[in-house]
Amino acid sequence: MKNLKKIMLLGIATVSVITFTSAVKATWEVPAKYKTMKNPTDAKNAENITVGKTLYAKHCASCHGKKGLGDGSKAPELKGDLGDFSSAEFQKQTDGEIFYKMIDGRDDMPAFVKKIASEEDRWLIVNFVRTLKK
Ligand code: HEC
Repeated sequence: MKNLKKIMLLGIATVSVITFTSAVKATWEVPAKYKTMKNPTDAKNAENITVGKTLYAKHCASCHGKKGLGDGSKAPELKGDLGDFSSAEFQKQTDGEIFYKMIDGRDDMPAFVKKIASEEDRWLIVNFVRTLKK
């Protein structure tokens, strides 16, 4: 009986730790420097958006999907929450936060810091991602 209690307590403790760890993981900490970083490109410029769209199609759509819904062809085999780029929750992030997540990556999300070496290209992708808003 005593042992059963111990096992139960251990079980509760384990579940709490797992819940806590996944809650921590759910928030993707972005350094303050990036949060407030200013996007130096013109987000309204149509030519910029076209370039951003091409870059997004090349680098991001295979996982995130053409419209950023998280339904790219590779999505089913990925761990982690791809997010929904058209959602208000996603769009309330600053440009700098999206920029940082793109270059830094996490788990199955690759870091693009080397693959997309041009800072301007990165911002143009951010601009395109903004147009996916519902
Ligand atoms: C190989 C698949 C893959 C590719 C390619 C990819 N991503 Fe991701 N992305 C992920 C996964 C998986 C996550 C979730 C990671 C996590 O939460 O640990 C993610 C998460 C994100 C997030 C955070 C979502 C949120 O809700 O805040 C952003 C922003 C993002 N990706 C942007 C991009 C951009 C921009 C590109 C293209 C330059 C890109 N990703 C390419 C797999 C990918």
